[in-house]
Amino acid sequence: MKGLDIKIRDLVKVYRLGKIEVQALRGLSMEVKAGELISIIGPSGSGKTTLLNIVGGLDQATAGKVQVGETEVTALLTPQLVDYRRKIVGHIFQTLNLIPTLTAAENIELPMIALGVPRSKRAERIRELLEIVGLTDRAHHKPEELSGGEQQRVAIAAAMANDAPVLLADEPTGELDTVNAKIVVDYLVKVNRELGKTIIMVTHDPSVARAANRILRIEDGVIKMALTPSEVIVEEKAVSYIDQLRARIKEINAQLHQLDEDFKAGKVTGDEYVQKRQSLKQIMDSLKEELHRMGVVT
Ligand SMILES: Nc1ncnc2c1ncn2[C@@H]1O[C@H](COP(=O)(O)OP(=O)(O)O)[C@@H](O)[C@H]1O
Ligand SMILES: [Mg+2]
Repeated sequence: MKGLDIKIRDLVKVYRLGKIEVQALRGLSMEVKAGELISIIGPSGSGKTTLLNIVGGLDQATAGKVQVGETEVTALLTPQLVDYRRKIVGHIFQTLNLIPTLTAAENIELPMIALGVPRSKRAERIRELLEIVGLTDRAHHKPEELSGGEQQRVAIAAAMANDAPVLLADEPTGELDTVNAKIVVDYLVKVNRELGKTIIMVTHDPSVARAANRILRIEDGVIKMALTPSEVIVEEKAVSYIDQLRARIKEINAQLHQLDEDFKAGKVTGDEYVQKRQSLKQIMDSLKEELHRMGVVT
């Protein structure tokens, strides 16, 4: 089945751990067009996995709406969610999570058995899928006899077994070297172009992200920026520089605070206090100036 539109509106997810509340998503909105491949990048803990799990029907939203084609995912009850997960979405995870005792072909067959596809149809489909991911000659290999990249290609085939129109890939290259990462991403691009699947790929690697036409940056549970493939590398460098500047400012603030405490406790003389405070302030001002130059409002 060809891809479906995905519409996400004001999505909120709050995790409660005893008395502690974590706001993983804070009113996130985005749209993906049918047949589009988009990347989502963002720092660790920014809500990428939470977002994919809600879109994939593996987790429930606290508030907001996810619509995939005609299906309002956020309104589905458990039995409907099971059906949704089997037919509409295919999930590819970071960790190579094939069943170790089953061959590549058997791993691809599992989702079809779950859906009740007859044996004769399954065999034909396995052949087709192995060919799509370039692993025809690996059908009877177990995961440990395959490279990480090959295992992830089997995972792509398994995610497509029931011809899901939407594929969700959560850091699919996270455990791969750059060569294998590129091969796996190339297969996702191929599946998107040739079969018209809608694909959302989450990654922290800008060089992987740029395989998509459109890259969205998520920060603190909301989409902060939309980038093109050529912008993403430059932008990510700037972002990591900005993060460094911010970390340095935090450090100086802590030092200023400590200096005040030391002065109150009589550990530094008045002269020393004034001198040190001034020099810390100077560093702080130049860091803030640099942040302003980078377009950040402090
Ligand atoms: N099951 C959970 N219980 C409690 N907090 C969670 C759970 N899953 C994720 N979180 C928190 O939600 C935030 C977003 O996590 P996640 O979506 O995994 O981010 P990412 O995939 O971008 O690294 C983090 O602060 C994380 O600690
Ligand atoms: Mg994650």
